[in-house]
Amino acid sequence: MSLSQLNIHHVRNLRRASLNDANRINVLYGENGSGKTSVLEAVHLLGMARSFRTTSARTLISHGEPHCVVQGTVRSALTNGSVSLGVQRGGRGELSLRINGESVRTVASLVEQLPLQVINANSFDLLTGTPSARRQYLNWGVFHVEHRFFPEWQRFQRCIKQRNTGLRRDKLGGGELAVWTRELAKSGALLNDYRQAYFAQLAPLFRDLMQRLLPQLGELELRLRQGWDKRLSYEEALAASQASDREKGFTQVGPQRADLKVTVDGYPAADVLSRGQQKLVVCGLKLAQGQLMQSAGHSRCIYLVDDLPSELDTAHCQRVCEELDALQTQVFITCVAREDVARVWPGGEQPSMFHVEHGEISAR
Ligand SMILES: Nc1ncnc2c1ncn2[C@@H]1O[C@H](COP(=O)(O)OP(=O)(O)O)[C@@H](O)[C@H]1O
Ligand SMILES: [Mg+2]
Repeated sequence: MSLSQLNIHHVRNLRRASLNDANRINVLYGENGSGKTSVLEAVHLLGMARSFRTTSARTLISHGEPHCVVQGTVRSALTNGSVSLGVQRGGRGELSLRINGESVRTVASLVEQLPLQVINANSFDLLTGTPSARRQYLNWGVFHVEHRFFPEWQRFQRCIKQRNTGLRRDKLGGGELAVWTRELAKSGALLNDYRQAYFAQLAPLFRDLMQRLLPQLGELELRLRQGWDKRLSYEEALAASQASDREKGFTQVGPQRADLKVTVDGYPAADVLSRGQQKLVVCGLKLAQGQLMQSAGHSRCIYLVDDLPSELDTAHCQRVCEELDALQTQVFITCVAREDVARVWPGGEQPSMFHVEHGEISAR
């Protein structure tokens, strides 16, 4: 899976920019404010229909313009064909998605065509943010390797909404609540099975990666909390919390409360690791997902790495580059100076260099 061509219209300071001849490893370098992160943001818009920096469409669109458009061509090694993708976003959030010129309704169809992994300043949320960031990470991974996950996840959202409504409307009580509780128990148990199966494969990959990225670190552990007492089935957990759920008016246990915990010698990684070490753990988590996708014979994801060298010393930056290189996947990396990444990239295939300046991209 690789993005061979990209056209960007009116994304931040990229009023009209193109990236032609993208290779496997692409380094975008340039001064602060030149538009490097915005290029990655445009790729993200193409694959996820949203920015990774803002929820406000107006912030993303070049000032004074009604909308932004990103078009790209994705080549798939699996099908040996190419797909053209297009996303247009208006100032009030209007969204139009196209695959091969045909309008599509769901973002999920886009995500399947262009699986993206982002490593940027927000990625620290995986360690220091709320559980929802970690659930999103987990869901992304399961989505890409287990095709039954997404429909089940949608079913689960419907069930929990209905059950919560049932919990609040006391007079409906018994019958209806029991029906939705039963449905929820089934769906939640399945979601959890998919997540557990995924996690069982992910954890050893993460451990091995961290051995290479940060070998001197103490006992690093990654654990999955499923969202309820693991000695109980989901059905039992729902039954046990029903009285309290009624009082509170919402479902307190289940996959919607799942979380991942990263600890070092028993302490939360966020509390004991330096910023640079945290970045390496985040890279380990993201790289492990890419490896897993690949080993499962699924399409490869594309990595967007914003400001790779920041917070990393040369030796660690080099290790991350080695792992990215070993994945044999397409990578877009930003940095300030031309040599920042090029000088630590392992031998063999050399990165294609793109200079970003005042919102324009040129290959050199
Ligand atoms: N909506 C917008 N319209 C026009 N320019 C913008 C908008 N949002 C941000 N910018 C400008 O775009 C430039 C590029 O930002 P960014 O991509 O973050 O730069 P870099 O990552 O190269 O440091 C900045 O100078 C910023 O002020
Ligand atoms: Mg930037």
